[in-house]
Amino acid sequence: MADQPRGAVGRGKTILLGEHIVVYGVEALAAGIDRGVRARAEPAEQTELSIEPWGTRHAPGEDDDVSRALAAVLPEGAPPMRIEAEVALPAGAGLGCSAALGVAVVRAIAERQGELLTDAEVAERALDWERVFHGNPSGIDNTMAAHGGVALYRKGEPLVPIRLGAPIRLVIGDSGEPSSTKEMVALVARQRERDPARFDKTCEAVASLVRNARLAVEAGDVRALGQLMDLNQHLLSGLMLSTSSLEDMIGAARDAGAAGAKLTGAGGGGCMIALVEDEATAERVRAAIEATGHDAFVAEVGA
Ligand code: PMV
Repeated sequence: MADQPRGAVGRGKTILLGEHIVVYGVEALAAGIDRGVRARAEPAEQTELSIEPWGTRHAPGEDDDVSRALAAVLPEGAPPMRIEAEVALPAGAGLGCSAALGVAVVRAIAERQGELLTDAEVAERALDWERVFHGNPSGIDNTMAAHGGVALYRKGEPLVPIRLGAPIRLVIGDSGEPSSTKEMVALVARQRERDPARFDKTCEAVASLVRNARLAVEAGDVRALGQLMDLNQHLLSGLMLSTSSLEDMIGAARDAGAAGAKLTGAGGGGCMIALVEDEATAERVRAAIEATGHDAFVAEVGA
């Protein structure tokens, strides 16, 4: 995406550690990936958003979520424009596709209007887009889609960028099972209501994994980071967020030499990530995940 104008890009993201509990104010560690959404806007007679490769069209006032999200981010009195977006992420897969789309659209609209927005302002506007899809979003997806890099995110606070002690290589496996973030967040909310003490313990445990993961990232200690990811996966399974496809891919990645592996994002389907030490291991892990019958790709992280 380096050849694209920065203003029209929204990045995909993976959550290295801390998904779900981030909804309850605990810090999470996230990383932007080198895949996302590009958008551009041109003057037109009526405002319209077209999305490729989905082949869908949306307009404010129409009765679908993307149209409602578009209406939510169109500034009042904006001149009509035709926005074209190109999506290079699987949707509903835990890679922040809807937020990347929202960020790219917000930037394309601002560019067309000659408005200069900071990353933080873009993220804030894109949160209105995210609310249409996710009900109670923590804000991590739209914030990472706007900023990229590797960062600690806590709801309502500015992003804390983390300096990498060594490059982070991930293999991302897609279960192909669509998952609804809204439903998975609601599933966790029900577990919290049923047993608040147990849920608080999980939050505390994940919070301490995230703190240690930050230190491991800064020190470039891939093995330690991998072990922390494995522990996070164990806690996520305890919240019933993993699936047998995700477990198959995670097991295959570990057997093929990954330093650690876990689901990423909402779970209940979607994607898993495997942390690998070098390119040769990345290729082995990618092949092992594909051998379970699922798509996988190697991602450059923190770009
Ligand atoms: O599945 P995604 O990419 O939408 O990630 C959701 C992350 C959650 O922590 C599960 C929800 C949130 O709003 O933070």
